[in-house]
Amino acid sequence: MVSLPCMSSAKEFISSGFSPIEGKTTWASPSNIALVKYWGKYGKQFPQNPSLSFTLSKCVSTTRVAFKPKEKNQDKVSFSFLFEGKKEIAFHPKIESFLKRIALYCPYLFEHDLEISSSNSFPHSSGIASSASSMSALALAIVSMERIVNPTMSLDYFNQKASFLARLGSGSAARSIVGPIMTWGETTSLVYSSQTYGTQLSEKIHPVFKTFQDTILIIDKGQKKVSSTLGHQLMENHPYAATRFAKAHAHFASLLAILSTGEMDDFIALVELEALTLHALMMASNPYFVLMQPNTLAVLNKIWAFRQDTGLPLSFTLDAGANVHLLYPEENKAVILDFIKTELSTYCQDGQYIEDQVGAGAKML
Ligand code: DP6
Repeated sequence: MVSLPCMSSAKEFISSGFSPIEGKTTWASPSNIALVKYWGKYGKQFPQNPSLSFTLSKCVSTTRVAFKPKEKNQDKVSFSFLFEGKKEIAFHPKIESFLKRIALYCPYLFEHDLEISSSNSFPHSSGIASSASSMSALALAIVSMERIVNPTMSLDYFNQKASFLARLGSGSAARSIVGPIMTWGETTSLVYSSQTYGTQLSEKIHPVFKTFQDTILIIDKGQKKVSSTLGHQLMENHPYAATRFAKAHAHFASLLAILSTGEMDDFIALVELEALTLHALMMASNPYFVLMQPNTLAVLNKIWAFRQDTGLPLSFTLDAGANVHLLYPEENKAVILDFIKTELSTYCQDGQYIEDQVGAGAKML
């Protein structure tokens, strides 16, 4: 993804000269877990600070888009949507506004009827946000329509445009295209970083991180207490916003060094600090929110005690909810999974957790 000079303007993603065709395309796109968090945005989905994430492999959305030329109403987007085989009109407004937003860059959307069907590999009610995987899968399918007409499109351009469109659906979706690590948001630490799309981290990555494990403890299956949209908005007048954004830049730079050396103690300290900072920002917002549940805190204490007792590099990160992502090297998998099963699963709702790991990115099926 980095060989191509960075697209400096969104205009470069506007396609033209596309005669309507019939066809279908299916993509499986993963979720991702941020180590340096995106929290705060402005304008049309631009991040206030750079973020960096592990691309996951098992938590995926699979989205099929069948398309055919439209006969009339070429000034509107037209689509049907099935979620896990059923009509789900609750999702319609979000998809419609996404398609309208990206139609400027994909005018061919006005010329086709779309049949979209999507499913997730993870349970719908698991408290796992699916916007990263679902929006990236849909964006990939839409750029694939364009690639059918223009098969010489470079892979770099394809990935960049897919990430660019995915970002317009959900910011974190910009980081779900390739693996094992993606970044999004301009930073002086990376010449190829971009505000408008995510880029694969192509710096040196210590082998330990290429197979890193992420076991997601489902502490609370319910809807998120605070939507990401509201959370990002709360950063707009947040008293600590400027400090946070400066810290995120500094953390990003430190993390790049850690990812290349594999220095585990530094990794743990930085990743946990980022997670707790996200929650602290929410607690200091007006209005304030506590996103942890008692079981979240109980698990964190268990992790710290386990690390103290065993010396094993088990760490955690959190998204904007109560669930806990346990991060650890593959070589410690057996011992840590045993610890999860015997000591942590009791804090999970219905004992549920998902074993995932760093992955290679989205796949066309
Ligand atoms: C805490 O990408 O869900 O997971 O752009 O409004 O769709 P929108 O927000 P979203 O925010 C993700 C927030 C986060 C941190 C991260 O993934 O970087």
